[in-house]
Amino acid sequence: MADNDNIVTGKNYGIGIPQVTEGYFLKGCGHLEWGMKDRLSRIFNPKSGHTVMLAFDHGYIMGPTSGLERLDLTIVPLIEYADCIMCTRGALRSIVPPACSKPISLRYSAGSTVLTYLNDECLLDIEEAIRLNASILAAMVAVGDPQHEGLTIRNLTKMVDLGTRYGIPSMGVTAVGKELVRDARYLSMASRVCAENGAHVIKTYYCDKDFEQVTNAVPVPIVIAGGKKLAEREALEMAWRAIDQGAAGVDMGRNIFQSDCPVGMIQAVRAVVHDGAKPDQAFEIYETTKNA
Ligand code: 5RP
Repeated sequence: MADNDNIVTGKNYGIGIPQVTEGYFLKGCGHLEWGMKDRLSRIFNPKSGHTVMLAFDHGYIMGPTSGLERLDLTIVPLIEYADCIMCTRGALRSIVPPACSKPISLRYSAGSTVLTYLNDECLLDIEEAIRLNASILAAMVAVGDPQHEGLTIRNLTKMVDLGTRYGIPSMGVTAVGKELVRDARYLSMASRVCAENGAHVIKTYYCDKDFEQVTNAVPVPIVIAGGKKLAEREALEMAWRAIDQGAAGVDMGRNIFQSDCPVGMIQAVRAVVHDGAKPDQAFEIYETTKNA
């Protein structure tokens, strides 16, 4: 216990040595406050600056999607390989082991399903995100959807306000309706709208042409969704191109959990995202694991 005896006068003030003021490794996040940066540093690896998020929140709009029928059997074995997991509160409470110690990207918006029309969504309570120790909040933003654009952008701004109150960053998830084209023009517009409205991270799709325009038009980190299932080699090629053109990582679901070797696939994706492995090298990792 501290007491008043033997108080030694301090001498080591490092006079003449300027105090070290570190920068922050994530694009556009240097002016955020400490709690936000701490949470983002759990999601993005400070060494590579990148992240592999494992997304398995699809059930909230799609029900028991192929590969997600039994989360305990298919997803839990993958969690150890992910930097961050993206899921609903329902999946979190029912199947994710709390001792897994992975940062949570919490699906923070909820609403209509594929049986009607998408994007008619509301937000969860911020207390729920705090209870669940969320590291980032994620809400759908439907830029260009004539019915729900305004609603989902209001959801985003509300989420950013609530999260900011408690130091929790927000991720805008760009939802592309069937009638909209996933090209660089649309994706940069949708992603930029999310960033301008305060999202700290943007999740969007990769596009083959001019994806660099998307990453350059947005002042915060972009992670790409995998989209529909591709052949493994093709999905690894897409991840490699996205990183090469400025993405800060992936938030991938179906291309991992619908693979015929999900553990091999997530390790291959990690090699691309964190180690700069080329698609062929990463595909070898996948094949080796699959054939072991
Ligand atoms: C569902 C989502 C998914 O998390 C997102 O689409 C990523 O998964 P996938 O790689 O399967 O596209 O936001 O609403």
